[in-house]
Amino acid sequence: MNPRIALVLLSCVLSIATGLVLSRGKGGSTAKKSGGLVIGLSMDTLKEERWIGDRDLFVAKARELGAEVLVESANSDDTRQLRDVESLITRGVDALVIIPHNGAAMARAVEMAHAEGIPVLSYDRLITGADTDLYITFDNVKVGELQAQFIADRLPPQGKLRLIRIYGAKTDNNAVLFKQGQDNILNPLIQSGRIEVVFEDWAEDWKPENAKKITNAAITKAGQGIDAILASNDGTAGGAIQALIEEGLAGKVIVTGQDADLAGCQRIVAGTQTMTVYKPLSVLAKQAADLAVKLASGRPIFAKEESDNGKVKVPSVFLPIYSVTEENLRETVVKDGFRSEKDVYGE
Ligand code: BGC
Repeated sequence: MNPRIALVLLSCVLSIATGLVLSRGKGGSTAKKSGGLVIGLSMDTLKEERWIGDRDLFVAKARELGAEVLVESANSDDTRQLRDVESLITRGVDALVIIPHNGAAMARAVEMAHAEGIPVLSYDRLITGADTDLYITFDNVKVGELQAQFIADRLPPQGKLRLIRIYGAKTDNNAVLFKQGQDNILNPLIQSGRIEVVFEDWAEDWKPENAKKITNAAITKAGQGIDAILASNDGTAGGAIQALIEEGLAGKVIVTGQDADLAGCQRIVAGTQTMTVYKPLSVLAKQAADLAVKLASGRPIFAKEESDNGKVKVPSVFLPIYSVTEENLRETVVKDGFRSEKDVYGE
C-alpha cells in the first residue's frame, strides 16, 4: 500500500480508537514566554543517514504546526543524552521527544521531565522502565520477520543454508525486537536443520565497522562457504559487504538490511545487497511532530496500540513497513519520493 494512503487510514483509525492517552502536559504554559510552543528533540545520534532525515522532517513539520524545536544529539553517549534532556528541560520545553541511545538509561530522563510536568514521546525506540507517555514507531517485530522471511524464501533445494546473523545494538530495544521477529521465522528452520547459523553477534552502537569485524570473524571461523548475511539494518549491511568485497564474495551472498538508506538502495541496484525494509520516515516524523505538538499543548491524544515497557503499557502508534528488493525499489522507495531515481540509479 502507498504509505500516504496508509497515513490517511491510520489517522482515521486513530480518530475512532478508544484509548484516551494522557492529560500530562504544561498546556503551553511556557509558550506564553516566547509566544509559541517549544519542543525538545533529544537524539541518540546524527552520525547515521537515517536520523538526519528524521530530524529534518520532524523539525519542518513542527514548524509548520507553529512550534519551535530545540535539537540535541548525544553521539551514542547515555550520560550526554541525560545532560541534553536536562538542558532542554531548563530551556523550558513544553514537550520532549526522545530517541534513546539506551532505552533503559532514558527512564531517568522521563522522571526528570515529569518532575517538571513535561510529557515525553518516545520516538522510534522505546524508553523502558518508565511511565513514558506515548510511543510512535514502526512494527519492529515485523521488520525482523520480513528480513528473515526473505532468507527463508531462498533456501537451497537441498542441504542447508549457511547464515551469519548480525544484530543491532544491544542497548536499543528495537534491536531486540528485530531479533525476536527474525527468530520467529528462523527458529523452526534452524531446528529442522535447513539453516545453519555459522556465526552471530551484536554490532555495538549499530556501527558498520563492528558489522565488518563480525563478518571478518565469521569468515575466519566458518570459511567462505556463506550463503546469507542477516544484517539488521543498512548500516551494518554496508559494513558486512565491505568484508565480502575484501573476500571477493560481494554479490554472491544474500544480504538483508533496513531503512532504505541511499547507500543501501544503491547497493541493491549494484547487486551487492539483496533487500532492505522501507520504513516511510516522513510518515513517522510528521505524525510524531503532530503528536508532540498535541502533547505540548495538553490536547488529548488517542492511540489504539500499546507497548509493555516493563513498567507500564505505553500508548503506542505503529506504522506500516515494506520489504524492498531490486524488483520493487522503483514502485516503493522512488515512487514515494523517499529517494530520487537519479540518486538511486545515477544518470
Ligand atoms: C532503528 C533503525 C536504525 C537503527 C540504527 C533502530 O532503532 O529502528 O531504523 O537503522 O536504530 O540507528
